[in-house]
Amino acid sequence: MEKLQVAIEKARSQRQKAGESRPAAAPVAKPVKPTDESLRTCWKDLAPIEVPESVITQNRLVASADGPAAAPFDMLRTRILQQAKSRDWKRVALVSPHSACGKSTTAANLAFSFGRQSDLRTIVLDLDLRRSGLRRILGQHCQHTMADVLRGEVPFSKHAQRLGDNVALGFNGSTVRSAAEVLQSGKASEVLNSIQAGFEPDLMLFDMPPLMEVDDNFGFLGNVDCALLLIEAERTTVDQIDVAERQLSELTNVMGVVLNKAHYTEGAYGYGYGYGY
Ligand SMILES: Nc1ncnc2c1ncn2[C@@H]1O[C@H](COP(=O)(O)OP(=O)(O)OP(=O)(O)O)[C@@H](O)[C@H]1O
Ligand SMILES: [Mg+2]
Repeated sequence: MEKLQVAIEKARSQRQKAGESRPAAAPVAKPVKPTDESLRTCWKDLAPIEVPESVITQNRLVASADGPAAAPFDMLRTRILQQAKSRDWKRVALVSPHSACGKSTTAANLAFSFGRQSDLRTIVLDLDLRRSGLRRILGQHCQHTMADVLRGEVPFSKHAQRLGDNVALGFNGSTVRSAAEVLQSGKASEVLNSIQAGFEPDLMLFDMPPLMEVDDNFGFLGNVDCALLLIEAERTTVDQIDVAERQLSELTNVMGVVLNKAHYTEGAYGYGYGYGY
């Protein structure tokens, strides 16, 4: 664990030297600002979802209800918000060096946690187009994919589903072959801008594929303001953290590093921070 801590500290100081002045993603042009009434309507009109209790238990959705089990995610939510507000960041990508670090589980738990922040609107999008991770973890079904939305073929307002009053989720109903091409396209940037302008979220979270396994992130991360790097205790190596940090800092701001599945942390969930700025 000491090695991981050293790697996280090293990454933090590298970021402070190199990345402090990186600008956020280009500001979103807002052609027509929605009225309060139309904004309320477009959120209200999203199809609401219920997450079955069995899914909550099976898929480690520990933040689904307020309480001690949700505390790590509520704390992570607060840290994300503090950082996002102070830097005027709205788009946060969840990434990891390799697969199964817990990005989709974290995204799903953060959806619940942000849902309890009733003064905020949050959009969580599954942009791991090759899997349907977020949809499966939340036990949902849907007809289309976020690729259909990013290609401009299906409106987000028809595709998105709503958790509570203030969290919109974009799932993948099936897997997509040309994921990298879709994510890299100018059309995807345009669509994201129009989602942001139309729904006026306080924060957008993107559940991304692993960095080392596919090139999807490389063409896309220019669309986000920052990335949060998830690593897996006892599996992610120091070298992998190092490489991921370097790659990410060439593409976007690195918000921090989250150490997941750490058995030595207090609490049942095994979730801890090596959370650096
Ligand atoms: N803190 C945790 N403690 C124990 N198991 C966890 C934790 N977080 C996630 N997991 C488990 O790890 C596995 C992978 O999680 P998840 O699908 O969220 O990872 P991922 O990073 O999204 O993976 P992929 O890169 O394949 O999309 C799942 O079985 C999940 O239940
Ligand atoms: Mg995933």
